[in-house]
Amino acid sequence: MTEATAEPHVKIFDTTLRDGEQAPGFSMSTPAKLIVARALRDLNVDIIEAGFAAASPGDAAAVETIAKEIEGPRICSLARLNEADIEAAARAVEPAKKKRVHTFIGTSPLHREAKLKLSKEEILKRISETVRFACSACEDVEFSPEDAIRTEREYLIEAVEAAIEAGAKTINIPDTVGYTTTEEIKELFAFLSGNARGAESVTFSVHCHDDLGMAVANSLAAVRGGARQIECAINGIGERAGNCSMEEAVMALATRTDFFRSKTQIETTKLYPASVALSRVTHNPIPRNKAVVGKNAFAHEAGIHQHGVLADKRTYEIMDAEAVGMPSNSIVLGKHSGKHALAARIEALGFKVSKQKVEDIFPMFKSLADTCREVTDADIVQLVTGNAGADGRAGPWRLRRVELRADVEDDTRPFARITMKHDNGDRRTVTCEGEGPIDAAFAAVCAITDVPGRINVLDLHHVASEGIVRAEAVVEVGEKLFTGKAEAVDIADAAVAAFVVAINQAAMLKTSPAAGEMAVGA
Ligand code: KIV
Ligand code: ZN
Repeated sequence: MTEATAEPHVKIFDTTLRDGEQAPGFSMSTPAKLIVARALRDLNVDIIEAGFAAASPGDAAAVETIAKEIEGPRICSLARLNEADIEAAARAVEPAKKKRVHTFIGTSPLHREAKLKLSKEEILKRISETVRFACSACEDVEFSPEDAIRTEREYLIEAVEAAIEAGAKTINIPDTVGYTTTEEIKELFAFLSGNARGAESVTFSVHCHDDLGMAVANSLAAVRGGARQIECAINGIGERAGNCSMEEAVMALATRTDFFRSKTQIETTKLYPASVALSRVTHNPIPRNKAVVGKNAFAHEAGIHQHGVLADKRTYEIMDAEAVGMPSNSIVLGKHSGKHALAARIEALGFKVSKQKVEDIFPMFKSLADTCREVTDADIVQLVTGNAGADGRAGPWRLRRVELRADVEDDTRPFARITMKHDNGDRRTVTCEGEGPIDAAFAAVCAITDVPGRINVLDLHHVASEGIVRAEAVVEVGEKLFTGKAEAVDIADAAVAAFVVAINQAAMLKTSPAAGEMAVGA
């Protein structure tokens, strides 16, 4: 067995709040950044690049707020290679116990000639003088030759040596445009760490973009070539197609230590919570099929896979959902599921049923699965207890009236007034405000039914040939997901009706007798 101490430590430098935040659709307010910074601290990342202080007063304030509050990771600000930027960065990180200024300048022919209009010599001089200045302003300085991958190798090594000589402790090699390949970058890191004067006294870092979908693979290849810091972002966000995804790089190193022989200090069980926190504050859902943190990453619907996973989950899983902090619900019941999975879920819900009962329920289960995205626990309870409605779904609440209001001219918040009736005769009307009228309607439905639902997915399809809108709502209640489908002439009516179908299932599950005590048709 390899001794853990023999494996080199790879630092995780998180740039979610800088490169990530720079991308369209991902900008964050200071409170939102603080939420993400706390998640990064819980992950135990080595460095948080909290922003680009010189970019705006708001950016500087956000870096400073994070530097004041977050303890543990080193707090870093980006700065162009000029004194004003560096001073702004050093000021913003000043309150942190551990601080860093990360300064950069373009070195490739395109950057030199088209953007900077500086000669090679002028850039080398700037690196020597200004990195030295940065070292006098901050205890820890990182230098990046921007667009390093497209920089002539003999010039790149000169730039790197100038920065090392001026006092930089970390040399970051960015693939600014996501152009490199695994073999090329591995070889480049081996070349620089083996040949640059002073290389032994610095940490080499890799910063990859995902334009060709290779950011994670290239970052890992750089580690094989000698990189000891990976710059990455939660959910892989960043300029254009994004940066190297932290969760993927970290889990690759953790799952294949036999191959990479390196380790990080990341608390992997905090990966999923961090991914969810970022998704919530930026209003960008995590794609279902996202590696490591997507809903499907540990889910199995195909019958053959479910059979294998129920026998031994290693048949189709290389990591545990728990290891990345994901609630494990690996068996998703849908139209591809078989009897093994259905029987296992019935048993997990606490029912004791005979094999024949499973056989009897199975055709109903399949026809229900054909009409929806996912068969929920509430559906199973209905099927087993025989309480399903004509459409295979039921629940105690009926929607009676939907009134929505959104004034574009004055600044009142949109609101909705919803009336619903319970099967026991109880009739309730509630008015709620929301971000929009549909959001307000969802809040009113939750208030009436006393089910704390959060919309997770809302798909709306206008079917022009039929003049209707088909809606599908996936609603999160606690750790469970409920799916509702509905159709209506109006888009809002369809959305609210689908939401109610999902909420009804949660309400049913809440009020059904303790499943554990049931023996049904055994
Ligand atoms: O992609 C890039 O080159 C950067 C640098 C500022 C490191 O983000
Ligand atoms: Zn970048």
